[in-house]
Amino acid sequence: MSRVALTTHNGGVEGAIETYKSNPTPNLIIIETSLMVEEIISSLSKLAEVCDSGTQLLVLGHINDVILYRELKSFGVAEYFVLPVSSQILASAISELFASDDAKPIGRSIAFIGAKGGIGSSTIAHNSAWAIANNIMQDVVILDMDIAFGTSGLNFNQDPATGIADALFASETLDGLKLDRIMSKAAKHINLLSASCNLDKVYDFNERSFENIIELCQQSVPIVILDIPHVWNGWVKHTLSMVDEIVIVVEPDLANLRNAKNIIDILKTLRPTEAEPLLIVNKSGVAKRPEIVAQEFADSIECKLFEEIAFDSAVFGTAANNGQMIAEIAKNHKAVEVFKKIASRVSGRDSEETNKKSVGLSIPSLMKLLKRA
Ligand SMILES: Nc1ncnc2c1ncn2[C@@H]1O[C@H](COP(=O)(O)OP(=O)(O)O)[C@@H](O)[C@H]1O
Ligand SMILES: [Mg+2]
Repeated sequence: MSRVALTTHNGGVEGAIETYKSNPTPNLIIIETSLMVEEIISSLSKLAEVCDSGTQLLVLGHINDVILYRELKSFGVAEYFVLPVSSQILASAISELFASDDAKPIGRSIAFIGAKGGIGSSTIAHNSAWAIANNIMQDVVILDMDIAFGTSGLNFNQDPATGIADALFASETLDGLKLDRIMSKAAKHINLLSASCNLDKVYDFNERSFENIIELCQQSVPIVILDIPHVWNGWVKHTLSMVDEIVIVVEPDLANLRNAKNIIDILKTLRPTEAEPLLIVNKSGVAKRPEIVAQEFADSIECKLFEEIAFDSAVFGTAANNGQMIAEIAKNHKAVEVFKKIASRVSGRDSEETNKKSVGLSIPSLMKLLKRA
């Protein structure tokens, strides 16, 4: 449970409905209820309407009834326990859900890549991670995959003793515990596998070098941010084929246009059934610079424009020099809103996209059950 971020609220199912009407739901909700059989089911159907997809539900109740148990299970409740229940039993039910061999990884992986170097892909990755940690309150791990030159340490004003290179070189024997020790804390809710930036070593990785690290991170941290450098190697291509979501950052010029088009084309063949990448046009509006209008840029590469961030050398420069996030130095800056928007989309908490409703509970079947009860 070392990575579990736990909050408790009063109010049973009704309280949960109130809370999650306006807040994103976590990976797991454990609910204690003293409702009667028929009430449990009707309340849970209301709760299901306000849950994000991917949220699991564990119910603690007072009614020892096999039929209720089976019905709750068949509607997608992960587990029902009759109180009193020991913490050990609860803990093993939770690990069964999230840590067993056939459990789905709890972490979503999101790759950030730039169509050219130096266009702000890492800056946007780190600030989006910050927004996920501070606005969505989810734990994040940032993997700085630019081993020789990465800036994640600088941007969070950290100089950790260990980083991603240690994880890579330990790869054969790497497990969750070891990885935990190698990670450092960049800020509240933000873990970091920083770049070593040691040029004595050279880094020629094979296609699957990062795979194990990414999967281990996904087993324990809900959001895994991959800060990918602007290179095209076997491992970059392979990583892009396996992640849940991709954010492509561009500057509005011709070279970016060509590169972004090529990236998007290859992604279509690598991930034919996955969600389209999110396109962010960064550094637009540089004085006197001829630029391609963001929307035209997006249209011509047949990709939806997700957001645009204006060039602002004062604010971004200060943040970079101080090792701070944009939200820390200018919380009302327009870019902060963009980072929040990226955060809610990539973390799967964007209610527009996911249409709140889940815990695997199907409303029509609950309705049927209600009529029966
Ligand atoms: N919108 C922006 N306006 C001004 N400067 C920016 C903006 N976005 C990023 N930068 C700056 O651009 C530089 C390169 O950013 P970085 O994130 O390291 O790029 P990349 O990861 O694409 O190589 C940094 O100094 C950063 O502060
Ligand atoms: Mg970078």
